[in-house]
Amino acid sequence: MQTKTYHFSTASTDVYINGSLSQLSKIVDKKQTIIITDTHVFEAHGSKLKGWRTIVMPAGEAHKNQQTADDIIGQLIQLEADRQTILVGLGGGVVTDMTGYVASIYMRGIAFGFVPTTVLAMVDAAIGGKNGVDVGLYKNMVGTIRQPNFLLYDVALLKTLPHPEWTYGFAEIIKHASIKSLPMFKQLQQHQLDQFKSKKLLLQQLIERNVLLKIKVVQQDEFEKADRKLLNFGHTLGHAFENQYQLPHGQAIAIGMVHAAHFSGQLADFRQTAALVALLEQYELPTHLRFETDTVFEVLKMDKKRAGAAMNFVLLKKIGSAFIQPIALTDLKTLMQNP
Ligand code: GLY
Repeated sequence: MQTKTYHFSTASTDVYINGSLSQLSKIVDKKQTIIITDTHVFEAHGSKLKGWRTIVMPAGEAHKNQQTADDIIGQLIQLEADRQTILVGLGGGVVTDMTGYVASIYMRGIAFGFVPTTVLAMVDAAIGGKNGVDVGLYKNMVGTIRQPNFLLYDVALLKTLPHPEWTYGFAEIIKHASIKSLPMFKQLQQHQLDQFKSKKLLLQQLIERNVLLKIKVVQQDEFEKADRKLLNFGHTLGHAFENQYQLPHGQAIAIGMVHAAHFSGQLADFRQTAALVALLEQYELPTHLRFETDTVFEVLKMDKKRAGAAMNFVLLKKIGSAFIQPIALTDLKTLMQNP
């Protein structure tokens, strides 16, 4: 198991890149640890959790809310969790968000780590320390920024991942390529999803590449004052679509990226929208949604990237190069009406 420690401004994270869930007991003391997972992951991997204290939350984004956080906190109290307790989130993005959030507020903060079980969580949700819950239709409205103590990667856990979930993870990989890496964009163009699913080394290398890309961005701008904002490419509209149309996160941001690419064409002479759309389609992601502009706009204007009457929007200059442009809310609505 390769281990590397990454330093952030307030904490460090040990990353075990080619590990196995069975090695968790080498990283944390079983007696001090409580695993948080969801019903789907427990069904697929529960047999590997014998002897571990485990809290199982209901699966799905609809449960990523304060009520679930309070339920978990109640169970932590029943288990007599104290400041020495370590929470381990074993699951996808909802579980990692919930675990990181609860760990950050329980007794004003206890240690936590993640064992991500989806591609999306491996390349994105587990990394970066932003963890929170939704409030109604508003995504991640309440949360914290606090780095996990460790990330344990076990690609064997992906064997039971349903096929659509693979595609959702590739939405975030395509996002990383679009904003930061033309070579990765080209690599994705040259392969098919099935090749990544069947070739373990190819998959591990792609995941590691994405982990390193995101860690580097977060190390340079942990509190999202500058470059980290670029990771929100596709997310402003994507988040507005996600809960309103009950889309999986990966699908919502794929559609969000296509809109952002069209806006980039109009505002920044970006000429590669067709290539982005083709790549998203190659990885079986949707690129279009019929939506109600007024209702989407109502959710969108509460996005955390709004600054007064403008939205800090991530646009592309070209594939691999992104920038932030404040767009007046009125102009944004017009762009949404005429993509
Ligand atoms: N937890 C995801 C992030 O910090 O970006």
